[in-house]
Amino acid sequence: MTAMPQPDSEVRPLDLDFVRGQFPALESGRWTYFDNAGGSQVLRRVAERVADYMLTTSVQTGASYAVSQQATARVAEARAKIARFIGATRPEEVVLGPSTTILMRFLATAMASQLQPGDEVIVTDFDHESNIGPWLMLKERGVVFKIWSIRPESVSIDLADLKALMSPRTRLVCVTHCSNILGVINPIAEIAALVHAHGARLCVDAVAYAPHRAVDVVASGADYYVFSFYKVYGPHFAVLWGRYEHLLELDGLYHYFYGRDKVPMKLEPGNTNYELAWGCTGIVDYFDELGGGTGDRAAIERAFDAVAAHEEALSERLLGWLRGQNGIRVIGSTRADRATRVPTIAFKVDGHDSAELVRALDPHRIGIRFGDFHSRRLIERLGLADGNGVIRVSMVHYNTIGEVDRLIAALDEAIKTGDAH
Ligand SMILES: Cc1ncc(COP(=O)(O)O)c(C=O)c1O
Repeated sequence: MTAMPQPDSEVRPLDLDFVRGQFPALESGRWTYFDNAGGSQVLRRVAERVADYMLTTSVQTGASYAVSQQATARVAEARAKIARFIGATRPEEVVLGPSTTILMRFLATAMASQLQPGDEVIVTDFDHESNIGPWLMLKERGVVFKIWSIRPESVSIDLADLKALMSPRTRLVCVTHCSNILGVINPIAEIAALVHAHGARLCVDAVAYAPHRAVDVVASGADYYVFSFYKVYGPHFAVLWGRYEHLLELDGLYHYFYGRDKVPMKLEPGNTNYELAWGCTGIVDYFDELGGGTGDRAAIERAFDAVAAHEEALSERLLGWLRGQNGIRVIGSTRADRATRVPTIAFKVDGHDSAELVRALDPHRIGIRFGDFHSRRLIERLGLADGNGVIRVSMVHYNTIGEVDRLIAALDEAIKTGDAH
């Protein structure tokens, strides 16, 4: 759900020393990681739990002997904790898998028999390809696709454009909660209301949202909601949430004796990865501790309120500088406002190839990157593909204002050096 602006007096300040102390990769301070939308650093407790699972309970779950019982309990606890982290009403709604791309493919495959030739699915041209390509394979079944386009003039989306695409044959709309290029938070609850008013369902890609705001799948209004833990301070692992009754309707992807009611196992063919599931409990415990350690949803929400306030300050530091530069074009909104954006900021510099500038920053040990970030349709639609796409700086709550200042100084130098040649 889109976070409402909070009066800062109600938001706990982020304890950055505590935060940074939780990430071993940040300890030396030698590197500035600003490619977090590509993959974030990992919490110590996550890595330790993955190792501990493998070293102490690495047996098949579901048997009667004690170690297997312990392993079973750990995986069940992981599912329950992830359910709390995302606001799911029951752990069975939590489908675990290797990546968002694969879970989207699983979902499209498991939904195939619900869709008849002539049924319509709406995808966007502003999503990451993971929430477009897997759906397009349903063309083979006669499903008709419509594209909800971003408006290039304003670099923004308009719900009127989605409304115009909806028809009595629309079965599904697939849209991102937050763009991994623009950093803009889309009004998912409003989109869900529109989609449901037309009797269709909504599938949301929350990969670029979940590292920054408390996920609340029920409040989002979505029917399916997917994101990856390696962007949320954990391992290469992902979650697909679906409303329980929708999951029951899906075709099974596992053996024939996993019946329709075997949710979520029928959607986790070959079993899920137990050690990574157990590792992910560390993410939930971290945000719980950050939010006061009360072990409930409120703690998670308090933690992300603090995260959002700090992120807004990071965004403002960078955007403030970018706004003041003549030859720099920020892609999308230049406002730092936490209710409408996360600190993922993309831009282009006049007269400079994006790759050249990013590479000039490598010796400074600042990790940023250039390109289309697998949102190729968006980059092409906005006419940004030439010159190696855009430069993206994607910050998260463990970054500091000092790191942003280092980036600004290095970028300024790289631009001036390039201009002099
Ligand atoms: C917005 C968005 N959606 C989906 C994905 C794909 O996630 P995964 O690598 O887990 O398949 C990414 C990865 O960068 C992403 O940024």
